[in-house]
Formats: sequence, structure tokens, C-alpha cells
Amino acid sequence: MLLDVKNVTKTFGGVVANKEVSFSLQEGQIVGLIGPNGAGKSTMFNMISSVFSPSSGEIIFRGTRIDFLPAFQVAPLGISRTFQNLQVFKNMSVIENVMVGHHIQTKTGIVKAALLWPSAKKEEKKIYEKAMQCLRFVGLECEVDSKAGSLSLGKLRLLELARALATEPKLLLLDEIAAGLNHKETMEMSNIIQQVNENGISVCVVEHDMDLVMSICDHIVVLDQGMKIAEGTPKEIQSNEEVIAAYLGADMDEKEEGV
Ligand SMILES: Nc1ncnc2c1ncn2[C@@H]1O[C@H](COP(=O)(O)OP(=O)(O)OP(=O)(O)O)[C@@H](O)[C@H]1O
Ligand SMILES: [Mg+2]
Repeated sequence: MLLDVKNVTKTFGGVVANKEVSFSLQEGQIVGLIGPNGAGKSTMFNMISSVFSPSSGEIIFRGTRIDFLPAFQVAPLGISRTFQNLQVFKNMSVIENVMVGHHIQTKTGIVKAALLWPSAKKEEKKIYEKAMQCLRFVGLECEVDSKAGSLSLGKLRLLELARALATEPKLLLLDEIAAGLNHKETMEMSNIIQQVNENGISVCVVEHDMDLVMSICDHIVVLDQGMKIAEGTPKEIQSNEEVIAAYLGADMDEKEEGV
């Protein structure tokens, strides 16, 4: 098992964001985490990536308990993520934004880097090349030197994806990576996620676009009001009465109304 979430609860004051949630993700899978607004999806991602610790329960990644580790120790183990609210540095160039993501994994200390030791220069070159490779992979090679602030939303989301890939993760967490994208951009994103997965990276997606979720996920976990209400294959989830009542029904109504 790549990731094991065991009985995880997270409370913020009186708010129970996640209540005794358990699920696992096997190596090679694309797992979807879905549910209505406020269901606790981003909170779960924040705990897996150690933005904060669970109130109780355990998170195990490749056999190691990670729920009490600080984020800077979890990322090098092979977990990276994108954020629901974009976290790009708008005044920096596209390539700089990707290189920033990679720096967390380098061996060079700040002093060595500042003195431009040969080993630091070599490492910087490696980071640059990896960043370029990731930008080419997501199709942003033409925007390498553009200011991140000048990019469209679709390209900003691709930039976040490239930055997450630059750390060479084993598990990639994507929080609403297709939010605000048009149909064509969503289809492209869906293809890229599948290519990422074919390159051996396991993926967990939080997404409201049900066409994307149902077409790319091997397994789906449904949260509602902090609790897991169902899990299964896309087919099982689409016909699950409780899921339809809590979430998919509303999604279908929205579609009928053309929202
Ligand atoms: N840092 C925080 N401090 C206080 N409450 C929080 C915090 N983060 C999340 N919550 C609360 O936890 C609950 C779950 O929020 P979360 O953001 O995980 O939902 P979500 O499933 O990602 O929703 P959405 O689909 O709208 O992104 C909500 O009631 C939210 O207000
Ligand atoms: Mg969220």
C-alpha cells in the first residue's frame, strides 16, 4: 500500500472537518476524493501533505507514519501537491516558479549555494533541466520566461502541476486542478494526469468535475460532512443511492439547469 489513512479525525474548534476517515491508495492508482463543499477534502490533503496534523488517527506513507512529521520532512519522502487556491509567485518567471518547488529536495545548503560552489552550480543546473523537462511535459515550454502573473488560469494550473512534478513525487495530490477551466482545457488536464500516472506516479484528485473524475479514477472515496459515506469504482459510486442524494444528485441537477 502506498498510502494508508486510518481513522483520521480533524477538528477546528467546534468544527469537525474530518471524522474517523479511512481509505488507502495503492501504488499506480488514480484515486478520486469527492464530496460537496465543506466535506473535508482539502483538509484531508492538508493532513496528508502535513500542512497540519490530524487530531487523531494515523497516516502511513510507504510504511512510515507521517502524520506528526513537519511538511519539509514529508515532501522529500515523495508527496507533492497543488493547491485549490493557486500558490504561484506572480512576479517571478514561470521557470523560477518551478525551480522554487524543486529546491526543497536539493542537498545544497544555503551557504554553499550563496558561494556558488561547483557542486551547487551543478545542482542548480540539474534543477533547471528538471524544471524545463516538467514545463515541456505540461506544454508550457513557450512560457518559460513569461511572468507567472501574465498567464491565463489554465496555464497557471499547468504551472502548479509542473512545479509539483519537479520534486519527482511518488504521490501527487491535486486539489481542484480543473476548477475554472473550460471543457477543452479540462480534457487536456485529464490527459496530462493520465500521462503522469502512466509514468509511475500515483495520484489522488479532489475534483468537482464528475466527467473528469469518473473517466480517470480507478477508485473513488466520497466524503460528506467530514465522514466517508462510500467508496468504490466509478460505476459503483455513480449508482450509490447515498452518494446521489448527498452529492451527485445536485451535480446532475446543475447540469440539467445548464449551470
Ligand atoms: N484552517 C481551518 N480553520 C478552521 N476551519 C477550517 C480550516 N480548514 C477547513 N476548515 C473547515 O473544515 C470544513 C471542511 O473544509 P474543507 O476545506 O476541507 O472542505 P472541502 O471539502 O475542501 O470543500 P470545497 O469543496 O469547498 O473546497 C469546513 O467547515 C471548513 O470551514
Ligand atoms: Mg477544498
